[in-house]
Amino acid sequence: MPKTPAVFLLLGLCLFGAADALYKQWIPDTNYENQTNWDKGSVPCGNDIVQFSAQRKVSVYVETVHSVQEMRLPVDGEFILPSGGGFTVSNGGDPGCGAGVTAQFKDAESLQWFDPALWQAAESLDDLKKGRFLFSVHEESVPCQYDNVLFRAGSSFRVDTTSNQPSVPVQSVSVLGKTFSSSSEFTHYLGSHSGRLQFHGTSSPSVGASGCSDASGCDCGNSANHNRICGTVTCAPMSCKKPLYPTGHCCEVCGAIVTIQYSSGFNIESYRNRLQHLFLGLPSYQSIQLGMSKVLKSQYFLGVIPRVAAAEIQIVLLDGESGAVAEALARDILKDVQAQGSNLGITGAEFQASSGATSGDGAGDNAGVVVGAVFGVLIVVAGLPLLAVLFRRGVIKMPTMPTISIPSLSSLRRSQEEIEDFTDHGFENPIFDKPTMMPEVPGIYGTEAANSISLTPSGVHFVNPAYDENETSIDFTA
Ligand SMILES: *[C@@H]1O[C@H](CO)[C@@H](O)[C@H](O)[C@H]1NC(C)=O
Repeated sequence: MPKTPAVFLLLGLCLFGAADALYKQWIPDTNYENQTNWDKGSVPCGNDIVQFSAQRKVSVYVETVHSVQEMRLPVDGEFILPSGGGFTVSNGGDPGCGAGVTAQFKDAESLQWFDPALWQAAESLDDLKKGRFLFSVHEESVPCQYDNVLFRAGSSFRVDTTSNQPSVPVQSVSVLGKTFSSSSEFTHYLGSHSGRLQFHGTSSPSVGASGCSDASGCDCGNSANHNRICGTVTCAPMSCKKPLYPTGHCCEVCGAIVTIQYSSGFNIESYRNRLQHLFLGLPSYQSIQLGMSKVLKSQYFLGVIPRVAAAEIQIVLLDGESGAVAEALARDILKDVQAQGSNLGITGAEFQASSGATSGDGAGDNAGVVVGAVFGVLIVVAGLPLLAVLFRRGVIKMPTMPTISIPSLSSLRRSQEEIEDFTDHGFENPIFDKPTMMPEVPGIYGTEAANSISLTPSGVHFVNPAYDENETSIDFTA
């Protein structure tokens, strides 16, 4: 864990120095002992001929001593031999091995950093060890900019870190038990022989990104690579009535999405733990996968006028089935928000379920009031011209207050425009407009724009997301 600035603790502004920084561990390895790395499905034995593709670069961790008949090595590669690891040559006389075959080491060349299936996430190193993994949307299954990345100690690997951006920022990277959190040290490692065998691609990871210092959570920062991430995902067909599409996910899901608006007292880690303890331990919610994160959403006023992206907390609930259990949990979470929301820094919550139900349907919510308020405003606005006409015709007289001059039709029009203008910009609709929900992270609006065009000292790089696969990039300065 990074050091917590003492002043923050004193001020009570944030409970943890790096709120919501997770540990993300790379799953595959290029270990000699891992039978999935061999085409024959098992580790070669003494009568086998071991073959590595000549043209492939690979780093191979060898934990114990293996006897082989013959070994064909690649042009560029390395064996990592801890004490106790090594090879002996048997001349085909391994009685437990049967007839020797040619055992081919599988190719790890195509394994991509931005493949969500190749990572597992946990809140702490301890959780990672104990297999207490967190579920998250696809974009956040891949390391976020404030996460700690682990390649298992005692394992070798090869990962393609090609990205839509010049670098892949994370807080730290651990390789073979050594943790790099200083940028210069890690850059030096990437240039080493091992580093070049382990990491390849057009972009490199960079460490030393500051952790997330906002207790309410931080934006993951992977939306720039959304197409790249989703290119590795195959979506299963969904059979529920109204599949949902969570922000940051590649596929539609059956389940429920709870959206939470928060204020300054909200702490995403404590709230995740609260839901864990209150609900996920219950037998009825055993099957639930819960993914919680801060997401940025473009908002619309009355569904028409686009607003800037606002941050909110998205909770994705999946039950692996129809979504009915997820919906029940969503309702329970909303009840908890109604009872305790003000103590938790939560100012509002809604849900959508794949059954078609939303928080607007049930009793005990205020959607009706909100809709009523919106219509009320519209009726007042629409009624003003009529009122003006009636004034003009003398049908309506102002109450006897001689100091008030009756406004002319044109000035009423103007004031009507003012009211409309006012509703566009200043009307506080609790559902659509949360001025306090603006992201508190400086420069957060910039991330979207930085996706496709980047300014670097060497020139302007333009990357068309539609041509991701081909890495098309036009360097205007050539
Ligand atoms: C072997 O590799 C597979 C796939 O890369 C991985 O899921 C598994 O955990 C590895 N086995 C061990 C014992 O590390």
